[in-house]
Amino acid sequence: MSKLVAEHVFKVFGRRPKEGVRRIQAGTDRDELRAEGTTAAVIDASFEVQQGEIFVVMGLSGSGKSTLLRTLNGLAQPTSGRVLFDGRDVSSLAAKDLRHLRSHRISMVFQHFALFPHRSVLDNAGYGLEVQGLPRQEREERAAQALELVGLAGWERSWPDELSGGMQQRVGLARALATDADLLLMDESFSALDPLIRRDMQDQLLTLQQRLRKTIVFITHDLNEAMRLGDRIAVMRDGRIVQIGTAQDILVDPASDYVASFVQDVDRSRVLTAASIMQKPPVAVDLSDPQCVTAHTDTPLAELLTPASRTRQPLAVVDDEGRLSGVIARDTLLAALGDQPVKEAHRA
Ligand SMILES: Nc1ncnc2c1ncn2[C@@H]1O[C@H](COP(=O)(O)OP(=O)(O)OP(=O)(O)O)[C@@H](O)[C@H]1O
Ligand SMILES: [Mg+2]
Repeated sequence: MSKLVAEHVFKVFGRRPKEGVRRIQAGTDRDELRAEGTTAAVIDASFEVQQGEIFVVMGLSGSGKSTLLRTLNGLAQPTSGRVLFDGRDVSSLAAKDLRHLRSHRISMVFQHFALFPHRSVLDNAGYGLEVQGLPRQEREERAAQALELVGLAGWERSWPDELSGGMQQRVGLARALATDADLLLMDESFSALDPLIRRDMQDQLLTLQQRLRKTIVFITHDLNEAMRLGDRIAVMRDGRIVQIGTAQDILVDPASDYVASFVQDVDRSRVLTAASIMQKPPVAVDLSDPQCVTAHTDTPLAELLTPASRTRQPLAVVDDEGRLSGVIARDTLLAALGDQPVKEAHRA
């Protein structure tokens, strides 16, 4: 069962939202509605997020990302459609159950650190546990563990203004982790950080995720961030999800010209891996042959040039168990790295 499911979610703001949904369904243009003072912020969003997955929602400002995120934990009610968390319809929950869901099962991490300036780092990290009503000692133990997870052991007694921006954002992350919530909703959580610190936070999140296996919905308008973090990415435009896929799917097979123009500046050689361009081996490949040069399925194309230069034979691509998955001829690799559209190279 999927951890989180959105089924035909609409969120319309204005005087008669339900009517707005009907008119959008009947084909009325979003801009036409907007001119009448009705905003279709989220239009017919459907997706499933699996346990342990990082699902990124990416789109320009105003495309509906935050509104969609707010429907996922019941902060906003869908005008139409529904959201299922662990199979339960979030919008049908009684107020008390909804509060429990938001305090225990789902955590949000925002763009601005939202730390309390007059509380220690430890008390900030333990804030969600205070809301849960846990006694002080347990709260402090779990908050300290969460701070250790994000690399802030030793800072428990400091004040937020003694920390750098990146460290403050890690306190925000620790606060979300301390509650043991299994779903993290992260809205532009790293966007306010300097580029280097931002990359560092992305790395930390990926490392943490290997250990914790949370389910994460991460919102960003930054494509490179989306590609680094997302197991899958949903691209939003004007309230609609226009494509859902892995970074490779979106690069190799963009669903529209809009998506293609969005991704045109991405460094393909870092995102595409050996598996995305390999072909079925035409003949048996002898992996024990000393002439045979191998690469792993997950190796980025940028790292294949050196091994490819060591052999005249196609590269043998092997999986985690060392089994042959496919081969990459040198001209296929060069085509994928060059100007030629990767899709062509893929099929050549
Ligand atoms: N409470 C509200 N009432 C009316 N309109 C709203 C409300 N919340 C959001 N909107 C509108 O819905 C649309 C989507 O907004 P949303 O904040 O979800 O976009 P976003 O993708 O998160 O943008 P950003 O990247 O700037 O954060 C916008 O046109 C916004 O003005
Ligand atoms: Mg937003």
